[in-house]
Amino acid sequence: MVDDTVANREVPIEDPQFYLNDPWPTFAWMQREAPFYLYEPLDTFVITRHRDIMAITPRADVFSNAHGIFLNEIKYREQAGGENVSEGFWPEGGEQIGNADPPRHQELRRVSQGAFTIPAMEALKDKLTAHIDHALDELGERGDVDFWDFAAGVPVEAACQLIGLPSTDRKRVQFWSDELEKLGADISFEELQAAVAEFDSLKEYITENVDRRKAERSAGASGGLDLISVLLDAELDGQKGVKLPNVITFAMTAIAAGADTTRAMLLGLPYYFAQNPDQWRKLREDRSLVKNAIEETLRMVTPARAFLRHVSQDVEINGQLMKEGQYVYLMYMAANRDPAVFEDPHRFDVTRKTASRHLAFGAGPHLCLGQRLARYEGVQVLNAMLDRFEKIELTTEPTPVVHIIRNSWENMPVRLVR
Ligand code: HEM
Repeated sequence: MVDDTVANREVPIEDPQFYLNDPWPTFAWMQREAPFYLYEPLDTFVITRHRDIMAITPRADVFSNAHGIFLNEIKYREQAGGENVSEGFWPEGGEQIGNADPPRHQELRRVSQGAFTIPAMEALKDKLTAHIDHALDELGERGDVDFWDFAAGVPVEAACQLIGLPSTDRKRVQFWSDELEKLGADISFEELQAAVAEFDSLKEYITENVDRRKAERSAGASGGLDLISVLLDAELDGQKGVKLPNVITFAMTAIAAGADTTRAMLLGLPYYFAQNPDQWRKLREDRSLVKNAIEETLRMVTPARAFLRHVSQDVEINGQLMKEGQYVYLMYMAANRDPAVFEDPHRFDVTRKTASRHLAFGAGPHLCLGQRLARYEGVQVLNAMLDRFEKIELTTEPTPVVHIIRNSWENMPVRLVR
């Protein structure tokens, strides 16, 4: 058993620049020499091998989400009076699924799952596809464009459809989704608290929509598969209808978790295909590869780089002892380039056999609830692009987002050749 931890090379996981300055040799070293690298400032093991993440994530009995899933939660715990700093984002009494442990976690998943089923996706398909086609037609007219606005608009439209909000409110939803990104950012405690203040208006807005939906239903409207309707129909704690603070929390979570991540995946499409025109040609010839191409894009981008777990009792995983009170940081980004699973891992290959083993959606009981929707958006957008454009080029190098968790871009200047 290996019980010593290697910390002889500095890996500054709290520094966003680390992720932008070619972290790959460091991750390869960690996978080889220090798979349970101890980041001493936060007493946190950084996990980079695919097989270790796959061993940790199913063990929700030992690796808890209740202390939060962002590094900020450790950093600001004292200032937040021993609470999760993200707690203030949600309404009083709201339970956040990402911070829940079993058995409550399964109950929260059970009541919300109906909004993410195949029939629920079918129900939002037509409007979402129409939005994608229309927006891409407009973009195609212009040729040299910033793909960013398009990539940002699709998941916001999807979130409105999913939650049951009017599409005409897209701009407002976009604003709140940007504010919610501060949740995991490397900003000061004071800045975080200022961001929290923005959410009263979002909570009110969701409450208005819940009231509207209730009124429509009492006037005879059908049930609906949108998240608000699903939660109003569900049973929790022996009562019909999930309570308002939880409905608000679920809706906020869907906005927070789905918008920036999906945007990053969509931005990854022109980014990787422009650099790999042979792969674009391959897809134009064989559309059966589209689904796998989305998996490969998710693997390469990994929109949410890493999440945290708290060790709730002493445990040994793949020979490494971890003590109660320590943390593990699941570096999905590194695992997605683990050569033990992905041969020649930095190559973008739409025919890669193992592409779907990526961990961009996490793994285990907290596996992304919105993955079906995100994949659906990816496939629709990629097919619509293949229908329209013979070639995609980058006109300048895009600007990366500077953030510890978000792997994305501030812009994506492209030439769309028809
Ligand atoms: C490409 C797009 C997306 C990516 C890369 C992504 C990534 C992730 C990851 C890595 C997790 C696991 C977090 C952990 O390990 O603690 C997660 C959880 C989650 N995601 Fe996503 N996500 C995406 C889209 C969405 C969408 C569209 C929604 C909903 C509208 C969504 C809702 C959620 C929720 C509710 C959870 C928490 C699940 C739980 O704790 O049981 N995500 N996502």
